[in-house]
Amino acid sequence: MSAARTRCDRTAAWGQLQERFRTAGSSFDLRDAFAQDPDRFTRFSLQAPHVFADLSKNLVDAGTEQLLLALGRDSGLEAHRAAMFAGERINNTENRAVKHWLLRAPRDAQAPDSVAVHETLEAMLAYAEHVRADADITDVVNIGIGGSDLGPQMAVAALDAFRIRGKRFHFVSNIDAHELDAVLQPLRPERTLFLIASKTFTTLETMTNARSARVWFQQQGGSDVARHFAALTTNVEAARQFGIATTFGFWDWVGGRYSLWSAIGLPLAIAIGAGRFQAFLAGAHAMDQHFRTEPLERNLPARLGLLDVWYRDFHRFGSRSIAPYHSALRRFPAYLQQLEMESNGKGVDAQGQPLPFDTSPVLWGEAGTNGQHAYFQMLHQGTERVPVEFFAVREPAHRIPGHHELLLANALAQAQALMQGRVDPGGHRNFTGNRPSTFFVLDALTPESLGALIALYEHRVFTSGSVWGIDSFDQWGVELGKVLATDLAGRLQAGATEGLDASTAGLLRRLRP
Ligand code: F6P
Repeated sequence: MSAARTRCDRTAAWGQLQERFRTAGSSFDLRDAFAQDPDRFTRFSLQAPHVFADLSKNLVDAGTEQLLLALGRDSGLEAHRAAMFAGERINNTENRAVKHWLLRAPRDAQAPDSVAVHETLEAMLAYAEHVRADADITDVVNIGIGGSDLGPQMAVAALDAFRIRGKRFHFVSNIDAHELDAVLQPLRPERTLFLIASKTFTTLETMTNARSARVWFQQQGGSDVARHFAALTTNVEAARQFGIATTFGFWDWVGGRYSLWSAIGLPLAIAIGAGRFQAFLAGAHAMDQHFRTEPLERNLPARLGLLDVWYRDFHRFGSRSIAPYHSALRRFPAYLQQLEMESNGKGVDAQGQPLPFDTSPVLWGEAGTNGQHAYFQMLHQGTERVPVEFFAVREPAHRIPGHHELLLANALAQAQALMQGRVDPGGHRNFTGNRPSTFFVLDALTPESLGALIALYEHRVFTSGSVWGIDSFDQWGVELGKVLATDLAGRLQAGATEGLDASTAGLLRRLRP
């Protein structure tokens, strides 16, 4: 950890928050808080670029908020934020800078890498426009996984209202070829463009799917691999060896789960066009500026990240539910799962010391109103409290009357019910209430507002990770499974179980054809 950072549990504010929780935090009641403060909604809501957030239905009062802000300051959040924006190597376990924000910043000839970023962006957007104009290409297949899949898949769905008509977008991630097979079945090689998206160009799932796609392409009579395959990667040499001539690169300072703004965003650029992709970047940049310059009191990502620490380490809430009340945002929960859980699912600090407190909660969720008819029962009456995040969009992107008001009413009603509860002495109909939620409002779901919303979450995750003193930008936890899978693939073929634990050996024997 650089000298500027102090792990949260070593700050004075941490002890004060523990005391606060013991004396006032655990008994805090939202209904009393609203009764005592008619201005609570105004006092606890914030307008950030393109995103309004009502934080008033959270288990926080002014005193706790002050201590959380002190926690941010005492732990060096502001200096850490400045270090990220200065391009310092804050991803210390990989000795890398963290500069995904530069991908959406205006060109600045003075800033290192800015010119290269914009040259690549221009080339990629020119290519996107070329593909858009090519009526022969009707199907774009993105082959990638994790950050090379979740971001573009989520964003193409979210901005479907802006999508070019006459082209379909497919996303293949799983090594399970049921997925690839189903996508390829109706396609014709001469009408298909494959985008092989992989930061490393070594990921087993992506390379296996890419090779199988190339075999399919050639077996179906496709001949021009150069025209029908493009690569989005930092490993341009590996893409060339694969036989791909059209490559859009990016840099090691872009983490996979932060790469939607780079060449990995090409499916989105093809879907919505160069101008709108620029607007998407501009929305994110506006949020970057907000996070970078606003004092912590008025800084939405910082306030949310500090709230996350309060909930995780004092209330001990183990999960958070994501409830987008807009079906175009249906992949947003999955996207946020990687962003937050891969970034902050860490058990040691940036120096490798075990942490005596909890980090990332479990994120989960699904588009409203569907979730209401599945798991909201547990959210309202279960034994665990789960903070819920609601997303509502004022302007619908469809023209069917009567639905949108009902959708919004449902979002409002769920947040209200979680807070208010209902007393029923009979028991089964009793709602305890006092269950926290945050309510986000976008005026419309546009490239700008989506860009801002995603950047908001990136910086929120940065904030909690910074306070926890961890490296939010590595992902060593995915390594062991990858190594073991390579060994087990050979064993499955050979039927070799020597040295395996009894369970894995038994399962392997059962799974062999
Ligand atoms: O599984 C971990 C991971 O490295 C993610 O962080 C990443 O987004 C994903 O794999 C895909 O990696 P790549 O883009 O290099 O194929």
